[in-house]
Amino acid sequence: MAKIVVNGGKKLEGSVSVGGAKNATLPILAASIMSESPVNIINCPEISDVWNMVYILRYMGCGVAVEGTSITVDATKMSDHDMPEELSKEMRSSIFMLGPMLSRFKRARFTYPGGCEIGLRPIDLHLKGLSELNVKIEEAHGQIICNASDLTGNEIHLDYPSVGATENIMMAAVSAKGRTMIRNAAREPEVAELQKLLNAMGGRVRGAGTSSVLIEGTSPLHGVVHEVMPDRIVAGTYMVAAAITGGDIKIMNAIVDNQHAVISKLKEAGCTILPAGEKAVRVIGPERPKEMQMIETLPYPGFPTDMQAQFFALASVAEGTSIIVENVFESRFKHAAELSRMGASVKIKGRMAVIRGVSRLMGARVRVNDLRGGAALVLAGLRAEGETEIENAQLIDRGYENFAQSLAGLGAEIRKED
Ligand code: UD1
Repeated sequence: MAKIVVNGGKKLEGSVSVGGAKNATLPILAASIMSESPVNIINCPEISDVWNMVYILRYMGCGVAVEGTSITVDATKMSDHDMPEELSKEMRSSIFMLGPMLSRFKRARFTYPGGCEIGLRPIDLHLKGLSELNVKIEEAHGQIICNASDLTGNEIHLDYPSVGATENIMMAAVSAKGRTMIRNAAREPEVAELQKLLNAMGGRVRGAGTSSVLIEGTSPLHGVVHEVMPDRIVAGTYMVAAAITGGDIKIMNAIVDNQHAVISKLKEAGCTILPAGEKAVRVIGPERPKEMQMIETLPYPGFPTDMQAQFFALASVAEGTSIIVENVFESRFKHAAELSRMGASVKIKGRMAVIRGVSRLMGARVRVNDLRGGAALVLAGLRAEGETEIENAQLIDRGYENFAQSLAGLGAEIRKED
């Protein structure tokens, strides 16, 4: 179990560079098994969620070479393995293997992935979409057995624009007979990034990034070199680091165009946002943040649920009262209790949090329950008076590269103890 210790009160200054996007890299690594020759993915983030995906790929017989941020997947010798129960249960990203396995082997056997810290996370939309591609799905004793011997394109309307379901359906449909249209598809930039990879591999996909994605089935797919887009959630987290400490941070390798919802709320909080050349942004935080009217998480281009916890920390020291509504996941307020230990004034009713900003937070011993909630506790610790000890901090490594070290580089008094 790792621990992060922060001594708050420093205004962060300087520049920080953002690595590749976790949520783009995971489906891309899974998609690489559909290729008949090696796929080289560059700018992969060095985070534990990626190591877990590499573990899954190796376990299933792929050759995987990792050299820094470059990962090469050679799935030529992979045979049609079932997904072992412990992998599907323990590692949520294993669900991204479903579409690619059906595409490549026309069959797959999985165990239900189960819930996690932030919600139940069912996969009904994945399965419904795949069954509409003529995948025969049997469910027995917690196992899902899929037969895709006659994988055929179709018109699919998603009841909800699920990111994972959109991506799994795209990956299965890419080698189905005929054309597939996904309506009410997730519009997240990472879905468009997956399209870019699939097309570079020889697939024929259009419309990703909008709510209608058209896939013309084709095969075989071939190897490619692909560079992963920057991580917008990591970039957004450093923006909040500037906002909460009254600092001045230049964030390099950030795509401003996919941050509008976050930037709009930072401006409400009193931040100055300045373009800083191509793919960079400078955020100058106010002495004390102002209240933010209403933050409501929504599918993209709405405010991202993955930034909710970080803004919760910001709201907890703002002048005035902010309201946060979490629409995407049903139990994503676990950081609230920990922030309260630091002096935050919070009331939660179902999916709504009312946060009355306090003039100062106090360092305390707190515990990380989930990845983004963990980042939020570190951000709060940067503002708090005295020492904050953040336990269970290895969960932050799931999505942030050297988080404590990068913040120390910006002037924070912070250390990580493994
Ligand atoms: C992805 C992101 C995650 C982000 C989330 C929402 C990755 C690796 N993870 O997760 O960081 O927080 O999008 O932006 O890309 N749902 C169902 N049935 C389904 C699928 C989803 O009810 O079959 C529900 C989920 O429980 C949740 C909501 O839909 O309440 C959104 O989930 P989804 O968009 O699928 O998120 P993920 O792809 O799991």
